[in-house]
Amino acid sequence: MSNDALIAVKPEIAAHALVNAERFRAMTEAAARDPEGFWKQEASRIAWITPPTKIKNVDFNGDVAIRWYEDGVLNASVSCLDRHLATKGDQVAILWEGDNPNSDARVTYKDLHAKVCRLANALRKLGVKKGDRVCIYLPMIVEAAVAMLACARVGAIHSIVFGGFSPDSLASRIQDSACSVLITADEGRRGGRTVPLKANADDALATCPSISHVIVVKNTGGQVAMQAGRDHWYEAITTGEPAECPPEPMGAEDPLFILYTSGSTGKPKGVLHTTGGYMVWASYTHELVFDYRPGEIYWCTADVGWVTGHTYIVYGPLANGATTLMFEGVPNYPSVSRFWEVVDKHQVNIFYTAPTAIRALMRDGEAPVKKANRKSLRILGSVGEPINPEAWLWYYRTVGDERCPIVDTWWQTETGGILISPLPGAIAQKPGSATLPLPGVKPALVDAEGKILEGVAEGNLVLLDSWPGQMRTIYGDHARFGQTYFSTFKGMYFTGDGARRDADGYYWITGRVDDVINVSGHRMGTAEIESALVAHPKVAEAAVVGMPHELKGQGIYCYVTLKTGEEPTEALRKELVAWVRKEIGPIASPDAIQWAPGLPKTRSGKIMRRILRKIAANETDSLGDTSTLADPAVVEELVANRVG
Ligand code: PRX
Repeated sequence: MSNDALIAVKPEIAAHALVNAERFRAMTEAAARDPEGFWKQEASRIAWITPPTKIKNVDFNGDVAIRWYEDGVLNASVSCLDRHLATKGDQVAILWEGDNPNSDARVTYKDLHAKVCRLANALRKLGVKKGDRVCIYLPMIVEAAVAMLACARVGAIHSIVFGGFSPDSLASRIQDSACSVLITADEGRRGGRTVPLKANADDALATCPSISHVIVVKNTGGQVAMQAGRDHWYEAITTGEPAECPPEPMGAEDPLFILYTSGSTGKPKGVLHTTGGYMVWASYTHELVFDYRPGEIYWCTADVGWVTGHTYIVYGPLANGATTLMFEGVPNYPSVSRFWEVVDKHQVNIFYTAPTAIRALMRDGEAPVKKANRKSLRILGSVGEPINPEAWLWYYRTVGDERCPIVDTWWQTETGGILISPLPGAIAQKPGSATLPLPGVKPALVDAEGKILEGVAEGNLVLLDSWPGQMRTIYGDHARFGQTYFSTFKGMYFTGDGARRDADGYYWITGRVDDVINVSGHRMGTAEIESALVAHPKVAEAAVVGMPHELKGQGIYCYVTLKTGEEPTEALRKELVAWVRKEIGPIASPDAIQWAPGLPKTRSGKIMRRILRKIAANETDSLGDTSTLADPAVVEELVANRVG
């Protein structure tokens, strides 16, 4: 299929959609004509204690200041809970599906409100107050959402660390934002196995003096050590607390959460989101992009440890009074039909997953999908990495029976929510394209000098103006915020992605143009993996690049130079893979390690990554200009001994 093949909006979908083509045009025009008026109007989708009168106050230049709704006062948990109690108190808020197909749970808005208030009261008793940082290291259990909302309730800033991260990764995140409380569980469950969360946490806490209390959810019942005075069972400290808790009044620009994400240099950055704008964005995008209707069952398969889980499992759906399905397990356990069995079991209407899962399931053919009925499905979504047209078409035809529009949603941890995506009732789709910006979003493509490219073009993807859900700073390092996102192209937010725009104005994201790689939709900084490798006593130098990978999108390819006298053995290769898993976590496992007696460097000593990427991708006949190499023989050696 050519890139430009359009799949038109079906008339029956347009007829009932919240936003059809006409409304989309009208909204886009309104947002362009009177942004303040448009975003003032949209602010009314969430609950305010004091509605804002100042809407936007943004400067992408100088020190970079981004403020939305700055005189508004609210509490995010009220938008997600209290305001639904009168009309939806008995509706299921969280539909939980366990790793084990025989375990599930239904938590109504009333139940969720009570659970959140109990934990919020317990947090206050432990001394947690507005602005304090609370780290959450939990599996995909209801308590993860409860913990987020309880932090929001008392005005604490949550920082969730994905349960697959190592003790070291957990420790560095806790240290960076000096969290005072950690909420974790005895163990997690995934694909029939357990994950030793409390044991990992204990390792991490050896170097985290800021933590004074640990709250532990008894999840599997596995044996764990409890440190008297510091560790408390969740059950024990929440039972007996009142099911009401006064929400902390928060300024719209008071922080809601920090979420660490990888960049092209240095250690992970604490992306900071604030309350008002983020909540408006979560609600706006969840409703528009998924065409969400009251009563529908909505399922996002992400983990709450990533931004997708924050915005599209918890804050967006709950702000919109949805029933959000939370899944503890994995796509292939107990069988590769699991996703579709869950769809049938809970009559899921909207399903949102990652291309890597689709590609993995595609390998097993149609039968495991077709076994399930899937008639409840109405909309399918994709997120996290470019979706190749083959996977898109399989998703559309095999999973959606050509009935369900696909929303390929482009966004980032930094953007808080979706920025570019088709709206199912308004925009014709093209397999592999995220299509058009949402009303109010202003993307552009620029060349290397920052010149804006018009019409059909390929270049660096930037945003010319702010939107309410934009990150506000890097926690504790505002200078790095400006440097990372606003210095490459003056006065513009630089995404780090490349994209092309076709004759219909559709965007096709081509992937990162910086030293960030996207492994199964998980963002990894090559610098982080390199520093893990060089921390090994036998490694002298390392360079890490992405390589094309059939399932993961990108795999991790490492060039390793050993210290003089060290032998490059198979045992050492295995040891290094295990070392990186231990240092960062299993998601950073190298896919290939090549022994490199030398690395290609310029005469000034800069590693030429462009060449390393080409070798990893096996594109060795197009290495490009190698004339600036200090020692061309290094490249010949690497090409000859390429692995894979
Ligand atoms: O390269 C883009 C890719 O994922 C990056 C953001 O990663 P992260 O902050 O971890 O957030 C992932 C969930 C939003 C982007 O810079 N990306 C995300 N969605 C898409 C995508 N690339 C292409 N198409 C998408 N739909």
